[in-house]
Amino acid sequence: MRRCSIAAIAAGVLAACSGPPAPPQQPVPFSHKVHAGDNRIGCLMCHVYAERSPVAGVPSMARCAGCHRFVGQDKPAVQQVMQASTEGKPIEWLQIYRLPDHVFFTHERHLAVGLVCTSCHGEVAAMEVMTQVSPLTMGWCVDCHRSRQAPIDCLTCHK
Ligand code: HEC
Ligand code: HEC
Ligand code: HEC
Ligand code: HEC
Ligand code: HEC
Repeated sequence: MRRCSIAAIAAGVLAACSGPPAPPQQPVPFSHKVHAGDNRIGCLMCHVYAERSPVAGVPSMARCAGCHRFVGQDKPAVQQVMQASTEGKPIEWLQIYRLPDHVFFTHERHLAVGLVCTSCHGEVAAMEVMTQVSPLTMGWCVDCHRSRQAPIDCLTCHK
């Protein structure tokens, strides 16, 4: 959610608003609503490392092609995906969620205690365009750690 000062709105300077940035334009329009929502494809089908490593991972072209050899070939965006796959040129997705390098985060540990994707990424299955919903500030991390008796000493997140 964007937070804008009255002054910024009055001046029409939306770029001056704080809060998560507007999503960047991806090289191919990829819809989580179509995949995870309408077609009920599970998050872990594509983000295969989330439960067993720090990173969740973004799917390989082979994984896209595994389905799109059979579905959606009438759609120009799908043809673009299949062409990239045939040419062996992976699509360079732009990252939406990104912590500074001095912060350590791991998916594995959070999922192991029963948190779910929506706890931090919101209602992804309803998103046509992936949008950052959590602020990723230190306060956001620490508030949840306090409320769930997770460690809050500095070295937990700053190695
Ligand atoms: C406790 C909060 C939290 C939960 C739960 C969580 N994420 Fe994340 N996710 C993050 C944060 C924070 C980042 C940024 C990490 C970084 O930049 O090092 C991130 C980054 C990502 C990324 C991009 C970078 C990467 O790791 O590949 C993907 C994809 C992702 N999450 C998918 C998921 C999926 C799928 C789930 C559920 C299986 C999930 N996340 C659950 C907080 C969370
Ligand atoms: C598990 C199967 C599966 C996987 C894996 C998959 N897709 Fe899809 N995708 C679908 C289905 C089903 C549709 C809907 C097709 C339709 O409605 O004709 C779709 C639709 C699309 C569309 C068209 C959306 C629209 O309606 O205009 C694009 C673009 C797309 N997928 C890209 C990708 C990319 C990129 C990947 C890999 C990151 C991927 N897909 C992986 C099943 C999959
Ligand atoms: C068919 C494959 C597919 C499925 C299923 C899927 N995703 Fe993704 N996801 C992608 C692709 C491709 C991207 C990169 C493009 C984008 O950001 O939309 C992505 C990006 C993301 C990101 C942002 C990553 C970053 O770099 O910051 C998050 C968070 C995420 N997905 C969470 C989820 C969650 C939660 C689910 C289940 C509700 C899910 N995804 C289901 C393919 C998938
Ligand atoms: C929604 C709640 C929630 C949010 C948000 C959250 N965490 Fe956590 N985190 C937890 C819980 C609960 C644990 C304890 C896991 C356990 O006991 O193994 C944990 C554990 C961790 C651990 C492992 C701690 C250890 O024992 O070594 C790290 C590292 C971590 N979190 C980093 C972060 C960072 C960085 C952020 C913000 C970007 C963040 N977390 C946001 C709930 C959260
Ligand atoms: C649960 C995870 C977590 C814990 C515990 C934590 N931090 Fe952070 N910290 C973050 C995250 C995420 C950021 C980056 C986002 C931001 O700057 O708000 C950050 C940023 C910082 C920064 C850089 C701020 C800037 O302006 O660039 C400093 C300095 C810092 N932390 C110090 C500390 C100290 C000192 C402690 C212990 C008292 C601590 N942190 C504990 C997650 C954590």
